[in-house]
Amino acid sequence: MIKSLRNQLVVALGLLVSVIGVVQGVSSYQLSKAGMSALLDLRLEQVGARLRDGFAEVISQNPSRGSQDERDVVLVVWKPDSSVPFRTTDPSLHFPRDAKPGFSDSVVNGESWRIYTRQDPTMTIQVAQRSSVRRALTQENAAMTLWPIAVLLPLVWLAVVFVVQRSLRRLNRLGSEVQAIDAGHLQPLPTAGVSDEISPFIHSINTMIERLARSIDKERKFIADAAHELRTPLTALQLQADNLAPQIVQSNQERFQELRRGIARSSKLITQLLRLARADAPVGASPLVRVDLAEVVTGAVADVLPIALNRGLDIGAEEMIDAHVRAIETDIGMAVKNLISNAGRYTPDGGTIDLRMRRDGAMAWIDVVDTGPGIAQDALPRVFDRFFRANPDIEGSGLGLSIVKAIAARYGGDVTLRNRDDGRTGIVASIGFPVEETRTAEATAQHAATA
Ligand SMILES: Nc1ncnc2c1ncn2[C@@H]1O[C@H](COP(=O)(O)OP(=O)(O)OP(=O)(O)O)[C@@H](O)[C@H]1O
Ligand SMILES: [Mg+2]
Repeated sequence: MIKSLRNQLVVALGLLVSVIGVVQGVSSYQLSKAGMSALLDLRLEQVGARLRDGFAEVISQNPSRGSQDERDVVLVVWKPDSSVPFRTTDPSLHFPRDAKPGFSDSVVNGESWRIYTRQDPTMTIQVAQRSSVRRALTQENAAMTLWPIAVLLPLVWLAVVFVVQRSLRRLNRLGSEVQAIDAGHLQPLPTAGVSDEISPFIHSINTMIERLARSIDKERKFIADAAHELRTPLTALQLQADNLAPQIVQSNQERFQELRRGIARSSKLITQLLRLARADAPVGASPLVRVDLAEVVTGAVADVLPIALNRGLDIGAEEMIDAHVRAIETDIGMAVKNLISNAGRYTPDGGTIDLRMRRDGAMAWIDVVDTGPGIAQDALPRVFDRFFRANPDIEGSGLGLSIVKAIAARYGGDVTLRNRDDGRTGIVASIGFPVEETRTAEATAQHAATA
């Protein structure tokens, strides 16, 4: 059973064309053979008629035996009341004189012959031809009719493959488009120029995309609302704990501090949840500005510098390049800060964190390289999953990288995380955005000025 629709069509159409070709070939072969046989018969008849018109005398009276070419016709003329032929072109052959008038087949001297016999009152005329010669002539001629089909059949197969492939190209393209749909970019598939057969599929897929987008949006709103609702009582709780602090007796201090840490953890989790819900939402009406990536990087480094110095971490930005991206500035800042925060949190005191920028085609990348322990290779593919933490010993909500990924996706960028491959342990976390070229920026500015 062939699974591929393309192969099914190619085989079915190819076989159909081949059967038609073979039937056509066989029938033209047979027709050609019959036609050639009729022509040869006509020739025997015409030669017989010439002999009656007085040409019989022209035949030599004593032809040497076996002097005739195999392919020639043999002529025999009999006079009435004579048991030997009056004239014959081959005396070694004795055809049955009483053969029925017209065409007959007989075996003479061990060979099969086609004989035309004409009975006239003054003479009997026989014109004969070897059946083997006739067969060779008719077959040779009929075989010629098979050439066009033999040449055309492979070409028709090629044409079938080409036509089927062309017709299914739209379907293949649709497959790739469906594959490219991801939860971050739920765009309906284009319907322009789609054939009638494919249109219902696209319509169903688009309806499904719409439903999916609605339910994802609902989920996002729910998370945002829940986080927002939780924030107020948690802030109140924190305030109450702060007020309560001076009244906690020494023996309960440790348990009280644990309670405060718990409140702080929950608070951080809710903040991260809110950030994720915001990063996941479409850009919407928020104004996009031209963000200088190098500025964001140096700003983020400056922000963490005091904490880093405190922990003996050597943090620095080098190889800055000139690259801009059209975005909400705080988004880019938050993404870079999240990566730096990870590097700082998971790198032991005294380690190094380097930030570098590089350009790769239309993308500008920011690499954050640390000297931490790295991540187990089998855990790497899951680090962008929500709430996934590869190292449960160190506190964290497991949402930072999900936020970074959502921000990258928001602007058509990407984020990757890999272990260092330069002989040291540590992580290379990279975030890339499509660069806004200066020319486009100028055009936008001009457009804004003239508008
Ligand atoms: N630079 C790094 N070095 C080692 N492990 C890392 C690094 N960055 C991320 N990880 C691992 O990936 C996990 C997921 O990171 P992510 O930033 O999403 O969450 P988190 O840091 O645990 O929490 P959050 O950032 O929300 O406070 C982390 O728990 C950590 O185990
Ligand atoms: Mg983190």
